[in-house]
Amino acid sequence: MKQKVLVTGGTGYIGSHTIIDLIENGYDVVCVDNGINSDKSVLNAVKEITGVTVPYYHIDLCDLSLTETIFKDHLDIQGVIHFAALKSVGESVEKPVLYFRNNIESLLNILDLSLQYEVKAFIFSSSCTVYGDVQRSPVDENTPLQEAASPYGRTKQIGEQVILDTLKNNKMKSILLRYFNPAGAHPSAKLGEAPNNPALNLVPVITETAIGKRAGMTVFGTDYPTRDGSCIRDYIHVVDLSHAHTLALKYIFDGKQKVSTDVFNVGIGSGLSVLEIIEAFEKVTGLRLNYEVGPRRPGDVMAIFSDYSKAKKELGWQPNYDVNDIMKTAWAWELVRSGKIN
Ligand code: NAD
Ligand code: WQD
Repeated sequence: MKQKVLVTGGTGYIGSHTIIDLIENGYDVVCVDNGINSDKSVLNAVKEITGVTVPYYHIDLCDLSLTETIFKDHLDIQGVIHFAALKSVGESVEKPVLYFRNNIESLLNILDLSLQYEVKAFIFSSSCTVYGDVQRSPVDENTPLQEAASPYGRTKQIGEQVILDTLKNNKMKSILLRYFNPAGAHPSAKLGEAPNNPALNLVPVITETAIGKRAGMTVFGTDYPTRDGSCIRDYIHVVDLSHAHTLALKYIFDGKQKVSTDVFNVGIGSGLSVLEIIEAFEKVTGLRLNYEVGPRRPGDVMAIFSDYSKAKKELGWQPNYDVNDIMKTAWAWELVRSGKIN
């Protein structure tokens, strides 16, 4: 019998790639999303790639009784992967209540139902943003968390704490995955980042500039004390990141997790600067990118990248894709998404 997994935020960027990875690894998947930042047509691409029609619920997780219908329909859900959240740092500064309500209330509801319906494993999308303005990298999971730079970041810190406290005296086990900078798209070019809100992250800004959706782009600061003056991040391919979720579930299902809640970094383990990312894009595509250098973006951390040795040792996870793969797949997806190729 296949184990059944509920994926929240499943039509979103990382959720949809994870659904594919789960199906490819023998799991049954149920998807819920309210479509606030994605479209359910993503599941058509999932069907094309995997041959599987994933049951879909168009539900806002802030509605407890509607969310419960999913659990009533699928009494055999054994794992929950909770991606659903609002994720724009800037918007969270403007609308903190919206972010706290959406990200915390949805988490409380799904956590409550997961416990009531005796789910075994709960995986939570956390973020390297919980580490705040770190002074040194690589950061491992024991690095003390600092003040969050935004209400969005705070929802991730609170979310982690809510899970840690709630699961202390329960049978359900949880894993908090702290993602670094997810990027790239599915190698089929049928699936990638397709937000309803304008893209703000570096890689989609690059591809949208190159395709002409944007007239140009700005590098936010080249006066940092880094090797070329621009900020350094750890860019992790979305397919690699997705597989970490499958391994995290399996780790709990196989009874390997001893503590109630464990935490793992998911990154590539080294940093690239903004200018190096642009260079990689230009090398892979043969295009010249129209960019200018502008002032620093407030709130940006100078440099952060992961130590993922815990995920490697415990989950058996490691990245297989590099920055060139990120650029190749992100660009192929941009061409398809913009209707330049089929
Ligand atoms: P995404 O916006 O593509 O996916 C999130 C999905 O959740 C969207 O499809 C949205 O419609 C849905 N959603 C939001 N609120 C909901 C609600 N109340 N009820 C039902 N559905 C709801 O974002 P993503 O990049 O795939 O991120 C997935 C998760 O990973 C999020 O929790 C995000 O905070 C976290 N994360 C993302 C990044 C990143 O850079 N992409 C980095 C670290 C952590
Ligand atoms: C990367 C680098 C920018 C756009 C954010 C969230 C974090 C996490 C991941 C969810 C930075 C530079 C960017 C542009 C630029 N998300 N940049 N010009 O800020 O590392 O992290 O996404 O949890 O919480 O804060 O990612 O892609 O926005 O920026 O120069 O037009 O690219 O300054 O150095 P960031 P990003």
